[in-house]
Amino acid sequence: MPFGIIASGAEPATLDTPLLVVALSRNPSLPAPLAPLDEAVGGALGRSLARREFRGDRDELLHFTGSGKGPRRILLVGLGDASDPRAANRRAAGIAARQARKLGVQSLAWYSASNGEAAAEAAAVGLALGAWHYDDLKSPPKPEDRRADLESATILAGGTDAARGVENGSAIAEGISLARRLAMMPGNLCTPDFIADTARAIAGRHGMKITVLGRAEMEAEKMGSFLAVAQGVPQEPRLIALEYRKGAAGAKPLVLVGKGLCFDSGGISIKPALGMEAMKFDMCGAAGVLGAMETIARLGLAINVVGLVGSTTNMPSGVSMKPGDVVQASNGKYIEIINTDAEGRLVLADVLAYASRFEPAAVVDAATLTGACVIALGHTATGVFGNDEKLIDEVLGAGKRACEPGWHLPLFDDYRELMKSDVADIKNSGGRPAGASTAAIFLKEFTGSYPWVHLDVAGTAYAESDLGYIPKGPTGTPVGTFVEIARGRAS
Ligand code: BES
Ligand code: MN
Ligand code: ZN
Repeated sequence: MPFGIIASGAEPATLDTPLLVVALSRNPSLPAPLAPLDEAVGGALGRSLARREFRGDRDELLHFTGSGKGPRRILLVGLGDASDPRAANRRAAGIAARQARKLGVQSLAWYSASNGEAAAEAAAVGLALGAWHYDDLKSPPKPEDRRADLESATILAGGTDAARGVENGSAIAEGISLARRLAMMPGNLCTPDFIADTARAIAGRHGMKITVLGRAEMEAEKMGSFLAVAQGVPQEPRLIALEYRKGAAGAKPLVLVGKGLCFDSGGISIKPALGMEAMKFDMCGAAGVLGAMETIARLGLAINVVGLVGSTTNMPSGVSMKPGDVVQASNGKYIEIINTDAEGRLVLADVLAYASRFEPAAVVDAATLTGACVIALGHTATGVFGNDEKLIDEVLGAGKRACEPGWHLPLFDDYRELMKSDVADIKNSGGRPAGASTAAIFLKEFTGSYPWVHLDVAGTAYAESDLGYIPKGPTGTPVGTFVEIARGRAS
């Protein structure tokens, strides 16, 4: 069931809610509008702040019992220094909603000192994502052990700005939730066909044009690079194109591209067994594109956007591609396969070449492309590469607004040397040095004449452990970044 959020100018002290969350920044004093609430609980809030029992540090929580009427419980949550109110609200709201889930409350109310449109939007996204969970594949607990699900929230902010923020935040959270769910689904359920069906459902909901290519169509397009990855599995590969056209007729589209490896075993260059199950997340770029298309449509943005997804599964078999093989991509370039585990770039090569036919204003791809990017930036920032400084800056700004920070990494000409092949135009692996950049250099060989940015989300698309405000598992990155790029370009 979708998480329901509304904005309301109601008085906190008399609100009938099982849980009122109050977000406060560092070294807080009681906000003046909460004086009646404090009075209702006999001054407990004010006394606690005066004693510095609660300091408003990031992620800090303190519980209070309500009085007989009004909120039954009150939860203080820290915003930290709140120099970026959007990021602070988003994070605190996520923490609070996760706490509310543990308490088993069905709904909560949220009060924050910063409650303009952007702040309300961030709070809405944070609350919805904090409430998000994936338990489709778990048997339900016994009735007596069941806790209520957190299903709705009221953001205590009056006025049309806050209402608009909440509405937009809900649309963003829907796209992120869609992406997270797809990512959580294991490789035997989330197949290229399932991803295509999900795209068809989005197209149906929002009146988009959809094109789905299979093996035969890709053969006709001479996509020898993508097909080399797909040849190891009997399952149909899928190249999906979703077209959202609410911009001016004839205006060049923004094209979003996602890597959709439903599972990446490494193929013949097989990965170590330990932790290999995480490679079901190798379709997070694709999930990001679909989630973004869902949100862009819900927001009704006046822009033309094409979403492209390349989806297959990388497996070893008797008919798999193998090291030393040479394949030809649809742009004519010959690729020597050095490592079958560098498969994402092989898929993207043909999808990036395919993008040219949409005459893009800009192309932004997202891929869980390299372990090297995780080593460089950890789980904190997405690697950002590109051939156009203006577009790079635009994407970095979008990532910041989306609370999905990116970091610009270089594409030095020297890196191209590392990709030289003895037999072909290029090889698919340059070894360990600058591994995130050499992967991006490889992609660049298959881009058209359009401005292009590549996002390596290997470290940011999913969390290997609980991050507090984000549970272990998929984060939803890069949905927010894609959406903010589109928003920034919409007229
Ligand atoms: N999907 C992986 C990259 C990855 C690694 C994502 C860890 C998330 C966490 C990608 O297909 C891959 O295997 N890349 C290789 C490239 C190498 C063989 C040149 C890598 O990073 O080791
Ligand atoms: Mn791989
Ligand atoms: Zn991969």
